[in-house]
Amino acid sequence: MSGNFLALAQPGVQQLSPYVPGKPVDELARELDLDPAKIVKLASNENPLGASPKALAAIREELAELTRYPDGNGFALKSLLAEQCRVDLNQVTLGNGSNDILELVARAYLAPGLNAVFSEHAFAVYPIATQAVGAQAKVVPAKDWGHDLPAMLAAIDTNTRVVFIANPNNPTGTWFGAEALDEFLQDVPEHVLVVLDEAYIEYAEGSDLPDGLDFLAAYPNLLVSRTFSKAYGLAALRVGYGLSTAVVADVLNRVRQPFNVNSLALAAACAALKDEEYLAQSRQLNESGMQQLQAGFRELGLSWIESKGNFICVDLAQVAAPIFQGLLREGVIVRPVANYGMPNHLRVTIGLPAENSRFLEALRKVLARG
Ligand SMILES: Cc1ncc(COP(=O)(O)O)c(C=O)c1O
Repeated sequence: MSGNFLALAQPGVQQLSPYVPGKPVDELARELDLDPAKIVKLASNENPLGASPKALAAIREELAELTRYPDGNGFALKSLLAEQCRVDLNQVTLGNGSNDILELVARAYLAPGLNAVFSEHAFAVYPIATQAVGAQAKVVPAKDWGHDLPAMLAAIDTNTRVVFIANPNNPTGTWFGAEALDEFLQDVPEHVLVVLDEAYIEYAEGSDLPDGLDFLAAYPNLLVSRTFSKAYGLAALRVGYGLSTAVVADVLNRVRQPFNVNSLALAAACAALKDEEYLAQSRQLNESGMQQLQAGFRELGLSWIESKGNFICVDLAQVAAPIFQGLLREGVIVRPVANYGMPNHLRVTIGLPAENSRFLEALRKVLARG
């Protein structure tokens, strides 16, 4: 007997499209017969610095233990995080990237008949995590590209169990301040878990963007998720974490894979967390690269969405897909965001100064061709 295994998938999954990642350098090199060394990839909000030398040294040391399972409780990393984040060890959940934390939340708290609320133009994994467990995604229209928190509040109903909010948001880079967050948290019903996704928080230091950890003690329905993929430069290793009450952490711990974070990732994350110099350098590079791109956009007469992340969405005032293709032919990979409801924008990750220049030069050329 044969079955239609698409039709047999649960309805939420049938309606999903797979996550579209940034185009890999080798793929473009193969397709256009380009030298991979000459390709610039500014498409996945990766850290252009290369990994911290301290993290690399920790990985080398850990290689001797590859035959062993990792510490399934991630004691060393959790201890460091607990200290740095001013929480107890049992409030920390480790994930295979912060993506894993989002999925653990969905698996633990969502189900058919329940829903998750999130914003238009929000991170693509929120609908995937929600619909994969048969729950309904309630998407709230954005305001000025960012989260409309009062509207999100109004969208919460008795079947809502999770709200995903990202600060700053990807792909828009938009953010909200402490007062708006506090007002929102005060009004969210106690039965709704608020996932505050702070994947890019390290880049926003010194700005008016709040530190979610400051709200943990007051709001037991808050979970803050963070990652080592961005400012800590370890995207390939897949390590992130959630901070919540011990009760929520215990629940997430029940559904996670026993060894969800590998030992190289654990060792590297511990070392990266202690490498303050690397973090400072990441921030500085991001800050100057952001200025460089904005100056370039200004020169080209283009506008953009102000961003507190390590990326920026430029408005091309026309459908962006042909420009994206033109940039590919110039060996520059950025990210189209039409699938985020932003057909006229391209999202560009802040690169090294020379990479930013290559992108701006390629953009100038492609736009001039018309
Ligand atoms: C807003 C946001 N949240 C979470 C993630 C997941 O990152 P990771 O799984 O690498 O920690 C990303 C990655 O791009 C992101 O942009």
